[in-house]
Amino acid sequence: MIRQLQVKPGLRILEPAAGDGVFIEALVKTYEDIYIDAYDLNPIAIDSLKGKFGSNCNIAITFGDALTDEHLAFYSDAGGIYDRVIANPPYGAWQDYDKRDYLKKMYKGLYVKETYSLFLYRSIGLLKNLGILVFIIPDTFLNLHMHTTLRRTILTQTKILEIALFPSSFFPGVNFGYSNLSIITLQKCAVKEQCLSHNIRVVTDFSNVDELAKENGANTAYSILQGQVLNNIDSALFIASEPHITNLINNCSARVGDIADCVTGFYSGDDKQFLHALSSDIRNGSRYKIIEQELIANIDNVHSNLLDGIDDIAHYVPIVKGGGLKYVKPDLWFLDWSEEAVTNYKNNKKARFQNSSYYFRFGIGIPMISSTQITAALIENKLFDQSIVGVFPKDARLTYYLLGFFNSPTCNKLIRTINPSANNPANYIKKIPFIAPTDEQLTTIDTLITGIIRDIRNNGTYNENDEQQLHALYRHIYDI
Ligand SMILES: C[S@@+](CC[C@H](N)C(=O)[O-])C[C@H]1O[C@@H](n2cnc3c(N)ncnc32)[C@H](O)[C@@H]1O
Repeated sequence: MIRQLQVKPGLRILEPAAGDGVFIEALVKTYEDIYIDAYDLNPIAIDSLKGKFGSNCNIAITFGDALTDEHLAFYSDAGGIYDRVIANPPYGAWQDYDKRDYLKKMYKGLYVKETYSLFLYRSIGLLKNLGILVFIIPDTFLNLHMHTTLRRTILTQTKILEIALFPSSFFPGVNFGYSNLSIITLQKCAVKEQCLSHNIRVVTDFSNVDELAKENGANTAYSILQGQVLNNIDSALFIASEPHITNLINNCSARVGDIADCVTGFYSGDDKQFLHALSSDIRNGSRYKIIEQELIANIDNVHSNLLDGIDDIAHYVPIVKGGGLKYVKPDLWFLDWSEEAVTNYKNNKKARFQNSSYYFRFGIGIPMISSTQITAALIENKLFDQSIVGVFPKDARLTYYLLGFFNSPTCNKLIRTINPSANNPANYIKKIPFIAPTDEQLTTIDTLITGIIRDIRNNGTYNENDEQQLHALYRHIYDI
């Protein structure tokens, strides 16, 4: 990071979240005649910094909040005063509600719950034209929807000199909660056209932490035009080893969101009270009451409006929850759907009676959190909970086609490029490219899926060859 900063004598450098001062130590060891402004809001860090650097008159140590400090805000408004900024800013640090409100006003359009993005934004403002910044931060700013404003600022006001991507496990214990980290090096640039015609160097596939420090330690380097990234959906920076994946994501003529409704499901507000398990042997089943068979409703026999609840002793309905089963899921969970309980769900602030027009409909459920492979199973006229994204094709003939697609490696490559984290919220599923099958392909896929579903129902398992055939069909249709 120090090398990337390209320091020269006489420069003015900002360290806005100085902590123990490891960057400052490295800087003063390597360069003489530089001027450093260090900020931290932790008094213990400030004492330690003063102990280490208090006698160095080129280092100014300020006890204060770099995000709200009035001097820094003024310097930023004035167009920036620093030649260099270096930081390992706090990630996702908790902010009380008053401070969040304040930050929301100060940083309009930014996602204030994620502190690192505010540090990055403020620091870009504080750089002089042609000044350089180096940050180590999670990689979520590259493609998460909530960082769109930040991305557009970076893409139009700076040249991204380099982004190095690596797993957070390179720094055990330090960055718990984020799967990947990045070191971003950027240069402020007042001419927007120059920013857009600049090529970003993205380096990845480091095999260990030491390789990060080597000049050519990465195995893979990509060059990506900034103007192209700005034009991507949400100006997201998709990093895929195969360029036609990014091409397809950016230029496809239809997306899942165009041909299907994608919605999040229900939450009771108090699952301990309302949710029952089929048996204590199922995962987490022992934490809940066990359902008695005579309480399970047969919803085909309910003739009143199901969304008002069931007035019968048998008033528990099956609900689809998370868990990575593919194609079909057995009924493992049941929810109290008495009229009284439903009234409670509709009025209780903790409950989420959301997207109720999709309850008890035939569609596809995708768990919001997946491990390596995204999975999908039918929602067969059941309720589905908030850990599931329900996908309801506008043309029901596409249901099996989409079910097979969501379980395929082809879909996985697309969703993991759109969002590399293991999350599949509705907004990202909507963005997955959709390619319509020919009638012949649709018939073949329907036949294979029907067979797989029948086998799962009869034997609890299915023929792997059938699934391989499906995967090959999607590979062919999508050319991925
Ligand atoms: C990950 S640590 C930085 C580590 C540092 N680079 C080092 O070398 O030790 C983040 C630091 O930011 C400080 N911090 C958090 N919020 C801050 C804010 N709003 N303004 C200034 N410092 C802040 C924390 O007290 C902590 O010392």
